[in-house]
Amino acid sequence: MKLSATFLLLLAGLLRPALTQIIPPGSPGFVHGKSSAAVTFDNSSLLIDNNRVMLFSGEFHFWRIPSPQLWSDVLQKMKAAGFNGVSVYVHWGMTEGKQGHLDWNFHRSVTAFLQVAKRVGILVVMRPGPYINAETTGGGFPGWLSNIQGLARSNAQDYTNAWQSYMTQVAQAIAPFQYPAGPVIGVQVENEFTTGTNFAPYMVTLESVLRNNGINKVPLTYNDFNAAGRYASGQGVVDLWGFDSYPNGFTCSSPQFAGVSTGYAGNRNQYVPNGPLYFPEFQGGSFDPYGGSGYDACYTLTNNEFANVFYKNNYANHATLQSLYMTFGGTNWGNLATTNVYTSYDYGAPIREDRTLSTKYTEIKLQANFLHATQAYLTANIMGSSSDGQTYATNNQVWTTNLRNSDQTNFYVARQTSATNLNPVTFSLRVSTTAGALTIPQFGGTITLAGRESKIIVTNYVFGQSKLRYSTAEVMTWTTIDNTDIIVLYALAGQNTETVIETSATSVQLTQGNGAISSRVTGGTVVLTGNPNGVSVAQFGRTKVFIMDKATAGTFWSPRQSPTTFDLTNRQPATLIGGPYLVRNATIAGSTLNVVGDISSSGTLSVVAPAAVNTVTFNGAKLTGTKNAAGVWSGALTKPAIAATIPSLKTATWRCSDSLPEVANSFDDSKWVTATKTTTLREQKPTAGKLVLFGDEYGFHQGNLIYRGHFTGHATGVTLTMQGGAFFGYSAFLNGKFLGSSTGSSSDQATNTWNFPATNTGDNVLTIVNDNMGLDEDFSPTDSYKNPRGVRGYQLLGGGDFSSWKIQGNLGGESWVDEVRGPLNEGGLWFERVGAHLPGYDDSKWTANCSPLTGITAAGIRAYRTTFNLNIPATADVPISVHFTRTPSSNYRSVLYVNGWQFGRFVSNLGPQTVYPIPEGILNHRGSNTLVVTIWSLDAAGAKIAALDIAASVMISSTKEVVATVNSPGFAQLR
Ligand code: GAL
Repeated sequence: MKLSATFLLLLAGLLRPALTQIIPPGSPGFVHGKSSAAVTFDNSSLLIDNNRVMLFSGEFHFWRIPSPQLWSDVLQKMKAAGFNGVSVYVHWGMTEGKQGHLDWNFHRSVTAFLQVAKRVGILVVMRPGPYINAETTGGGFPGWLSNIQGLARSNAQDYTNAWQSYMTQVAQAIAPFQYPAGPVIGVQVENEFTTGTNFAPYMVTLESVLRNNGINKVPLTYNDFNAAGRYASGQGVVDLWGFDSYPNGFTCSSPQFAGVSTGYAGNRNQYVPNGPLYFPEFQGGSFDPYGGSGYDACYTLTNNEFANVFYKNNYANHATLQSLYMTFGGTNWGNLATTNVYTSYDYGAPIREDRTLSTKYTEIKLQANFLHATQAYLTANIMGSSSDGQTYATNNQVWTTNLRNSDQTNFYVARQTSATNLNPVTFSLRVSTTAGALTIPQFGGTITLAGRESKIIVTNYVFGQSKLRYSTAEVMTWTTIDNTDIIVLYALAGQNTETVIETSATSVQLTQGNGAISSRVTGGTVVLTGNPNGVSVAQFGRTKVFIMDKATAGTFWSPRQSPTTFDLTNRQPATLIGGPYLVRNATIAGSTLNVVGDISSSGTLSVVAPAAVNTVTFNGAKLTGTKNAAGVWSGALTKPAIAATIPSLKTATWRCSDSLPEVANSFDDSKWVTATKTTTLREQKPTAGKLVLFGDEYGFHQGNLIYRGHFTGHATGVTLTMQGGAFFGYSAFLNGKFLGSSTGSSSDQATNTWNFPATNTGDNVLTIVNDNMGLDEDFSPTDSYKNPRGVRGYQLLGGGDFSSWKIQGNLGGESWVDEVRGPLNEGGLWFERVGAHLPGYDDSKWTANCSPLTGITAAGIRAYRTTFNLNIPATADVPISVHFTRTPSSNYRSVLYVNGWQFGRFVSNLGPQTVYPIPEGILNHRGSNTLVVTIWSLDAAGAKIAALDIAASVMISSTKEVVATVNSPGFAQLR
């Protein structure tokens, strides 16, 4: 029967959603009834323009680095490692700080970000929420939302009304960037919406708003909290379903490895038998709370060995779409954090907060190279694993999964059965080859898995016209240059390898190497054995085999010829470049290879390129080098001198001012908000007192809140219940006298009774300064983001009540004044309200000869201001951080501002963060900088910062985009 195209289209429309997930390989495929959709998928993989691709993606929140000229650096670094995709949340709360007032400019611009992604040539999955979680205040919800009655993340009318403008505008901003016009290949609906089908109408509403606003060329995707099949079928079904997994958890203090899941493939089969295995988030690091062990510990928890074992386990389960959360974490600047995380969102990610590359990045680069080079992986099937009783390895401490493609390429993913075994294990492997079943290595020795190591061992692996029968070393990548097939293999230094390549050649030459590898021709094969050390090259017929130790392989880059196009069909690199810290791109023009990259130290540049290339330039400078017998060009790569000296704050001159004048009875609070509310729609009601004093009810959603409660008479004390989120603190004063503080614990609340020293007959003023650690997230969803901040309850003891309560938060509340830095940047401390954090503020009347290093001798808050100049060349990447020396026994907190941007909240008694990276562009690298730091002593004894300085983490000669200082208003414009 021949069906007409119209009929098929109609059928497609009728059968949606069931049909959207069934796209026979090789057919045009469709999504949402569009027969010409460029982005499709089947049960093996994603297809773009009908080409199968591995989506190797990483999470990056562009708004966590508000210096937009650094976005391209992060994306280029991702692309250089082989990430061909980036996953991004959009932050509703920082975009719509006041209901109906949306501002998509500056670091909030989805359009600007997508233009950069398009220019870099990296695919994008957009995740606009509206709820995102992401360890950010309110999980991405705006503070004002907490005042509505309806349950968030439901179809409650007031909640629906609240998100309409944001979702409409974000969809319209994304729409023009849908593939192929732009890089967007998917848009995620909501995030980990665990409530399930009862709430499906909300998913349906969100989906129709996205579709009606132009998201109709790419699949709607989903990130299930665990593999539970929510919205994989039924009402609210999405097109492309996936789930996230954080197998090692988030306890960075105990970096033990968890067990490795063997169930992912089964989860996919159960919930989306017609879709691929998709991890919209897979653990790339971990967040860390106040009092935690710091991001270096989180890195250890999720380091290169974790990446080696756990990501390869994803491939053993045939994941063909994977996004690592986070790949670059960035900073919770300007009150972006929720309560379970501090200023840094480094996350122990592959690209660290200062944008430097980690060993984990290198491990990921090796994996991504392999997956992009290996089309056969994308359509492979799982044939069996150790659990099936099929023994592949000769040692039951080794767990092996066998995947096989219809072309007979085999993948044996071997790892330690126990992810916690730190001792090496050795084994031989029973494999299937076109030459029959073999136990490898055949010619002596064993295969080793170091403690936490996994290996993907291939058989019948075709590269160009050549074929690897097997190798116990792993494949990094392959390419064909000048009609010669080149494959790069690697193993850890000291490990025995055996490689057998089928050939009709009768001889083999070792054209590069130091005797580490031996070669011979036997039975129609070349056999290469030995322990890789540096680079060894064996050459025969039209085949070249590079065998490297893993550390050396990790220095190699495989840039594509068209650096700015999407990394889709052109999988074989035109060149291989070894040595430099980073290669952003490399292009061949005639006989010249132009490499563009970054240099961290002088060394040797190695180049594998077509024979016609006889000249190599690096960042435009011609290098001197020679070609060896293997055709590998090498020459010295010298790091240019970087003329940059970082001034020390040790000798800085400071001016300081009291920043808690509100304790004085004479302080004029007549312009402050007067608390009037006696009821609240929130579930959490006042615990005592007539008035509702929650900051959010009066438009103050972040930073410190200050209260002034007035009463007359002779009360003897007060009982206060204060709430600020986990790890908050507060201090209370009566008539200028310090009553006491609560100095922070994992509890979000503190109830204390303070006895009054003496009251007067006139106006008594109780002043309270409260910390807001960010609004809670709304994971469940139970409206926990509505948990109030500020005074939760109050009661005067000994008779009487307050005659009035005055409340102050950030200047203007929801009518904040700084359009560039946005609604969340400022809190409610005096120095913030008067604009002393802004460049251009006149501090000439502030006290001279004071310093945060001498600090204050009583409870209270003082602000310190200094300026310093930098003169760092634009061609250098010199990430600079502010370093605090922590005194854990001292109860003080600091807020740190650089050039008007809040880039740090430091808590001395809890820690752990002491190093605060300030991105270039926020920091003026070629000019003057204003730094403001406060000391809030929560103890009567006072406090000082033991040491405070700025320092560079590295000095790299860099080709990142030249970063100008973000054009942001100063004091004159804002106050
Ligand atoms: C996920 C969530 C992310 C983030 C992550 C932990 O479950 O989707 O938004 O919160 O956990 O970092």
